[in-house]
Amino acid sequence: MMKPRSDTPMASRRSLFAAAGGLMAAAGTGFVAPARAARHPGNVPAPMPLPAPLPATEPFWGAHQGGIVTPMQSHTYFAAFDLITDQRHAVIDLLRTWTTAAARLTAGQPLAQTASQPTQPPLGQMVGPAPGDMATPADVPPEPPPTDSEIAAGLPPSRLTITFGFGAGLFQKDGRDRYGLAASRPAALIDLPRFNGDQLVSEKSGGDLSIQACADDPQVAFHAVRHLAHLAGNTAAVRWAQTGYCSRPADGGTPRNLMGFKDGTQTPADIDKVVWVGTEGPDWMRGGSYLVVRRIRMALEHWDRTNVGFQEQTMGRHKRSGAPIGLKTEFEPLGLDRSDSDGNPVIANNAHVRLANVATTGAEILRRGYSYNDGVNFTAERWPPWRQGMEYDAGLLFICYQADPRTGFVRMFEPMAKLDMLNQFTTHTGSALFACPGGVRDGEFIGQALFAST
Ligand code: HEM
Repeated sequence: MMKPRSDTPMASRRSLFAAAGGLMAAAGTGFVAPARAARHPGNVPAPMPLPAPLPATEPFWGAHQGGIVTPMQSHTYFAAFDLITDQRHAVIDLLRTWTTAAARLTAGQPLAQTASQPTQPPLGQMVGPAPGDMATPADVPPEPPPTDSEIAAGLPPSRLTITFGFGAGLFQKDGRDRYGLAASRPAALIDLPRFNGDQLVSEKSGGDLSIQACADDPQVAFHAVRHLAHLAGNTAAVRWAQTGYCSRPADGGTPRNLMGFKDGTQTPADIDKVVWVGTEGPDWMRGGSYLVVRRIRMALEHWDRTNVGFQEQTMGRHKRSGAPIGLKTEFEPLGLDRSDSDGNPVIANNAHVRLANVATTGAEILRRGYSYNDGVNFTAERWPPWRQGMEYDAGLLFICYQADPRTGFVRMFEPMAKLDMLNQFTTHTGSALFACPGGVRDGEFIGQALFAST
């Protein structure tokens, strides 16, 4: 058995800082840790959570996959894959290999040479030697590439979690039932409808499989995805990927998104009920969840030219304190029925938080998004003043989990996509939906029950 790395995480200054920061924030661009939500059920101003240390590693085996209700780490690397094989056994082999590797990675263990190595030749061996190169004696086998890129060598496990998801293409693609799974596609794994204002690009959308790696160190998250992608060999190829981060304020409060607002204040009262699939789903989805990911670009240049009062009306909350408009503290209830002396609603009818609130939508989701920042692109804005030029390609990698996206994200977002004042500053450029199966027991592989049932 391989020993854990000697640089045990809790011993490292860096991990202590990350762990304390993680719990103090207990929130991200979207998710407040259940502990805080439970202690402050929305009507009491929350005192600052205590900086208790978080564990250095998050469990991989269990009833649920990690990375869903896990207190948010500071970084994510999200990757979607296309399956490029017609062989069912190759998909099973890949999921088995990924499971073994993910268990090691999340435990911070060194990577062993795994049974199913990629079948493609390493890049260095794809072309023959150039004339004049020193000849390799025929009886000396070429040195194989290393199992591990070593980019995480010496880094603590950083609470790495790896969350696997299955897209519709695993079940059926272009009308083809490649792996005999078409009949097992869950009804909840819908094709997301086209929403008002969508400007989706296929290079940032869809995928047959997904991996969300989250860690308190960006290189640990990338190391994990890079290794898993390498193991995919000729079975799956990266379709798109997106990094994200969540910067925690020093006081441990709710992080701010790139519009400068506290993001992650509200969480559902009953997270388990909102997130986990129960007996209504197929066996292999029990204890699992559906992940909706949306890459949402923000028109930051435009936003930065609006005054704070307008920004607050748009959001429905005060910028500095995060309190609902007209109130003092962040965790007070929204008070959506409050009106001013003229009888107008204090929180506007088309303010973001009103349109997203469960009282308006009847829908709940667990948000677990990250800010993203991909430099600048030439952009033509869709709204006055119709700016054109180099603009930030930055915004929100919106990620949410729910037991059923039809009654979760879709029900919530359909009216928002038409009415939300925030839409003047946001453009959805990427989108995907994945079924994240229930957790894995030691010795099983992710999605095993799905393949066993067909
Ligand atoms: C770039 C896009 C977005 C930004 C900047 C944004 C920002 C915010 C902010 C600042 C809040 C208030 C603080 C909080 O409770 O976390 C909030 C609340 C919320 N947002 Fe968003 N959001 C975005 C997109 C979305 C989308 C696409 C959805 C779902 C369809 C969504 C769902 C929610 C929900 C459910 C709440 C809580 C509402 C409540 O108080 O009940 N957001 N968002």
